[in-house]
Amino acid sequence: MNAPAPSPDPLATAAAVDNLLLGFLEPEDEPLRTARRAILDAGMPEISISPLEGRLLQLLVRLSGAQQVLEIGTLGGVAAIWMARALPAGGRLLSLEIDPGHAEVARRSIARADLGDRIDVRVGRALDLLPSLEQTGDRFGFVFIDADKEPYAEYLDWSIRLARPGALIVADNVVRAGRILDPAADDRSALGVRRFNEALARDPRVEPAFVQTLGARGHDGMALARVR
Ligand code: SAH
Ligand code: DHB
Ligand code: MG
Repeated sequence: MNAPAPSPDPLATAAAVDNLLLGFLEPEDEPLRTARRAILDAGMPEISISPLEGRLLQLLVRLSGAQQVLEIGTLGGVAAIWMARALPAGGRLLSLEIDPGHAEVARRSIARADLGDRIDVRVGRALDLLPSLEQTGDRFGFVFIDADKEPYAEYLDWSIRLARPGALIVADNVVRAGRILDPAADDRSALGVRRFNEALARDPRVEPAFVQTLGARGHDGMALARVR
């Protein structure tokens, strides 16, 4: 099969390049494909990380050496499955999800991926659940922030507090097709990630970096930060 010809539309070109690069790698396996189908079948939003982003997250979790991973925003478990597969024996991933229906779909897909003993999906509002983690003494070597965008800066603060020294924090959707440049007054998502980016950049507790992305999911970006 030939890759589509380059298009003058940068977004179409980026999507085609994503496909080309994906073709060089092993395709997502049956459990991940089933997890994506379950999201569609349940009518849930198609906002999971892309397969290439799954690869990247898996590599980053591996490099971080994390034994404990925290995800904020589970959806159907696609990112959780990718990340949990990078954990060492005995490693655990905790994912927080506000929607019980999403959590149920995710748990089923996680069980099908044979990761039920590694991944715990906890239902609740992330800002309500995060303080309880401080008491249990759990400390995470990797955090993936990917829930609602308005409180991203608060998620960052909690992530740092719950992270081990040297931990890696990754946040999805920090560019929002450039809407962070001049967010409309009612664009809570763009306003939220813009405030997050500013907070990350000036927080003395982390070493921050930003990656702008163009790909299957359009124009967006991820922030990465190492906890000092
Ligand atoms: N990380 C997932 C995608 C997450 S989509 C993946 O790539 O596979 C964002 C998820 O965050 C949705 O399932 C949504 O229900 C959840 N969410 C939204 N607001 C939340 C909140 N306040 N607390 C916890 N989860 C929330
Ligand atoms: C959208 C994408 C995401 O990855 C997300 O976490 C939330 C929203 C979106 O494209 O709207
Ligand atoms: Mg996202």
